[in-house]
Amino acid sequence: MSSAELREKFLEFFKERGHKIVPSSSLIPDDLSVLLTTAGMQQFKKYYTEPSLAPAPNVVSIQKCFRTSDIDEVGDESHLTFFEMLGNFSFGGYFKEEAIKYAKKFLESLGLKIEYVTVFAGDEKTPFDEESYKIWQSLGVKDIRKAGREDNFWGPTGTEGPCGPTTEIYINGVEMWNIVFNEYYKKPDSTFEKLKTLGVDTGMGLERLAMVSQGKKTIFETDLFQKPFKLLPAYGIDGRVLADHLKGSVFLIADGVSPSNKEAGYILRRLIRRIAVRWRTIGHKSFELFIPEIEGVINYYDFYKELMINKEKIIKEINAEINKFNKTLENGLNEFLKKYPEIEAQINAPKERGTYKSHDLKVISGKDAFYFHQTYGLTIDIIKDLVRQGGHSVDEESFNKEFQKHQEISRAGIEKKFGGHGLLLDTGELKAADEAELKKVTRLHTVTHLLQAALRKVLGEGVKQAGSDITAERTRFDFSFDRKLTDEEVKKVEDLVNFAVGKKYHVEMKEMAYEDALKLGAQHFFKEKYPARVKVYLVGDFKVDPPEIFSRELCSGPHVKNTSEIGRFKILKQEAVGSGIRRIRATVE
Ligand code: ALA
Repeated sequence: MSSAELREKFLEFFKERGHKIVPSSSLIPDDLSVLLTTAGMQQFKKYYTEPSLAPAPNVVSIQKCFRTSDIDEVGDESHLTFFEMLGNFSFGGYFKEEAIKYAKKFLESLGLKIEYVTVFAGDEKTPFDEESYKIWQSLGVKDIRKAGREDNFWGPTGTEGPCGPTTEIYINGVEMWNIVFNEYYKKPDSTFEKLKTLGVDTGMGLERLAMVSQGKKTIFETDLFQKPFKLLPAYGIDGRVLADHLKGSVFLIADGVSPSNKEAGYILRRLIRRIAVRWRTIGHKSFELFIPEIEGVINYYDFYKELMINKEKIIKEINAEINKFNKTLENGLNEFLKKYPEIEAQINAPKERGTYKSHDLKVISGKDAFYFHQTYGLTIDIIKDLVRQGGHSVDEESFNKEFQKHQEISRAGIEKKFGGHGLLLDTGELKAADEAELKKVTRLHTVTHLLQAALRKVLGEGVKQAGSDITAERTRFDFSFDRKLTDEEVKKVEDLVNFAVGKKYHVEMKEMAYEDALKLGAQHFFKEKYPARVKVYLVGDFKVDPPEIFSRELCSGPHVKNTSEIGRFKILKQEAVGSGIRRIRATVE
């Protein structure tokens, strides 16, 4: 049965049983607590607490989903980042018995046999799902296994929301269908509350369903991968990874994601860079041949109208991102291959893959991997991809130790820039592609200290920081002052900062007790809670006696070493942001 038939059968089956068909929502969810749509229930999340808002008590959908959680498994027989999720849902309409019976009946209607099922075993937080166990028993299923929270408790997506025990159906060793019984609401403080309305949320991967119903050993042998691609199926595991990542990129761009340094854009950027590396390491230097593969995806999935509508944009964005990254990649690759010639042989002669004898196999040390990561932007992902070509490996554990050691140093600055999206941080990758940008953030950090000092010198000691925000484009500094600055004052402040830049002052960091920093008169942000030991950044001339100190501020960095690195400072705008608070936007050139 083709995938198209499976989609249709699924929707029909549930429509006949009182479900309203709802189209897939965008991969960019309206729920701000998650970056991307990872499940069918995402667009229905609010209906579990507010069933009256739902278009119908029972709905059915085929949802575009994107997950990074399985990215390292992609290439095996059944894992993907992008997939379509078949799901039926109920918001107070029906519960366990119907949901389980529907699932069993639907699979039987396709001639598929359930191998075994799992139910939630219970733990100290929520009890054993005895009801589901008994339902399966009554339906004659013999192999019912109990499993813990990790496997058989689902949700919520984001920091809070509906969640509950699950029962999962396995066929040929693959998890096929996940049936979630939303009985609880998890609150942000991690406590569970009983939901007023009981809900059902199910999800079955179309690709896996196609695999078992088409009698294939892997999802990549189904029509969902054989039809869209001409070239990729010939490349074994590399081809699978490329196919998955390409689909993901195409669908993300179609829904409005652009490669960038934050949030969903950053996920897309990493995905496309992984494509660039794979493509390169299977011997391709040009991207020409790849374009028909992109078109293949767009044509095959033509019923997702957003693909065709955005066809040109999709090709352009993937191309642009790869071109942007290629220089970094080539540089890094050259250096890497100089050091590991045995890997070069593999990359340039992919036909010989697998012919290396075991004594040729290399384990790249964590230190070396980190060096390439830090210096050339070859992330651990990329290095793993490179070395895998010849069956080599990387000492990931020691890499992680190195990584952690260095991460502390740059974390503060990057988190400021990315608003604390810890999970997306990857300093090495930033270093390579966005070194200039990161450097600019650093320059803006230091100049913000100079700005505060200059404001105090020009407007008086009453000026105190009331907030600040630094991006790669500008710094925004809020401070206490009760009137508009005159043009002369603005000019004076600007000149004074540029004077400090011209003086080539040194930036020194001293760690000390918080109390001592205050005694020293270091400027601090009164709203912030500081730890017992703090870092004080001093900007000035330390060679003269006594030292000439221009600025003294509590901060966690990052900062330039010398103000001459900052460049020309320019105030862009001043405005009022509340009573007694002014805001200045400024930049460096
Ligand atoms: N929401 C459930 C899942 O994604 C069905 O597995």
